[in-house]
Amino acid sequence: MDSTTEFVSWFRSVAPYIHAFRGKVFVFGFGGEMITDAKFVHFIHDINLLASLGVRLVLVHGARPQIQLRLDESQLETKTLLGIRVTDPAALQCVKEAVGRVHHEIAALLSMGLPNSPMANAAIRVNSGNFVTACPHGIIQGVDLMHTGKVRKINAQAIHSCLEQGDVVLISPLGYSPTGEIFNLTMENVATEVAIALNAEKLIFLLDAVDCSSSDTEMLGALPRELTVAESKLLLKNKAPASNSLVPDMIQSLLQSATKACEMGVTRTHLISHYSDGAILQELFTHHGIGTMISQETLQALRKARIEDVGGILQLIEPLEAEGILVRRSRELLEIEIDRFTVLEHDGIMLGCAALYPFPEESSCELACLAIHPDYRDQGHGNHLLKHIEKEAASQGIHTLFVLTTHATHWFIERGFSHATTAELPQTKQNLYNYQRRSKVLIKYL
Ligand SMILES: CC(C)(COP(=O)(O)OP(=O)(O)OC[C@H]1O[C@@H](n2cnc3c(N)ncnc32)[C@H](O)[C@@H]1OP(=O)(O)O)[C@@H](O)C(=O)NCCC(=O)NCCS
Repeated sequence: MDSTTEFVSWFRSVAPYIHAFRGKVFVFGFGGEMITDAKFVHFIHDINLLASLGVRLVLVHGARPQIQLRLDESQLETKTLLGIRVTDPAALQCVKEAVGRVHHEIAALLSMGLPNSPMANAAIRVNSGNFVTACPHGIIQGVDLMHTGKVRKINAQAIHSCLEQGDVVLISPLGYSPTGEIFNLTMENVATEVAIALNAEKLIFLLDAVDCSSSDTEMLGALPRELTVAESKLLLKNKAPASNSLVPDMIQSLLQSATKACEMGVTRTHLISHYSDGAILQELFTHHGIGTMISQETLQALRKARIEDVGGILQLIEPLEAEGILVRRSRELLEIEIDRFTVLEHDGIMLGCAALYPFPEESSCELACLAIHPDYRDQGHGNHLLKHIEKEAASQGIHTLFVLTTHATHWFIERGFSHATTAELPQTKQNLYNYQRRSKVLIKYL
């Protein structure tokens, strides 16, 4: 493909995401370390892009290194207990100054609008307010944490009305109590509670890699690309002591927050490193993303078929074979090819199946035998299976997926496939093509 074709096809490929994200609430949580990074301005450009696509954005920032710097300048030492800083009245003064400075710096960057820059004509309106009600953390192990607090309540209605006006909401890690006090909170706590209160579509934590040169995969090496809430909880429960753990402390704490948010109704939470330029665009607008995604739904229901599934698959496909919708497969053949199948099951009931047949020489794959039980159709299960198969093909480095179908042409076309001729099939498949069935050949480039 030449660069123009590539650009056009890339631009078209992001259209479904644009439609899906418009009007949805995304909460971003990032630490103060990120703000000191030269690439932070690129993140702001990407935020600007999301805002222009109609995504409702809430940014929650931290200020840990800036607070530490201010404390050092004032020659103040603070105690920490279980990793939590004790904020006495003198430290609170430093916290207010550092958080205030960071907050205004971010607001200033969001206000840029220089011509010939990604911010030209941006006109982002930033809104901040007393959206977070806090209460003291209290006394732990006999130590009064004083002005170190935790979120008590979020004024979701006020944030929603700012978002409805098209404002980007910027929230600091400070909270206020009905008694008029100020509390020092963690960014994770605020971002999580905000996302839950807003019933956000996404909560996205941007991580700081210890080593700036480490890529996302290296840093998140110990975390899989996708986790369900249950899998994430298990991972956290079985975690090794932090010093020996493959998952560093910082990631563990964010994973905990992300899992809680998901459990409490946030559709998806993401952990991504901000060190890769355009990290949020890569995560949000590409099929595979670059970080770790936690979801409520039990992805476990989608799994590789096992030999004991043969009976269930046969029950599912035999009626379709009898109607001539699917090609006949004997039990023996199914047993031999069981490794090619993925099944979708729920509470032991088989809802659907699909098979993937690779043609490595042509760098292409066939999707076959996609079937959803008639009682469970029109609930997105077919789509779910298709996406999984596409991911599996792409993970094998294969980017051409074809299907032969007699009854579901439009279903596939609506999901990005296009008509092709038999000549475009791998040679071995062309030789097997059944001209009596006259199946339509459809191809999707992943
Ligand atoms: C095609 C099939 C897999 C879709 O599964 P599903 O879980 O119902 O699909 P989804 O829930 O993702 O999609 C539902 C949408 O597709 C539409 N749809 C379902 N079957 C369709 C078909 N054959 N042609 C066109 N559109 C179809 C539904 O009307 C619905 O549209 P809507 O969102 O506008 O209401 C399922 O109908 C099936 O098992 N068909 C028989 C087997 C088959 O033909 N397999 C393909 C050959 S390998």
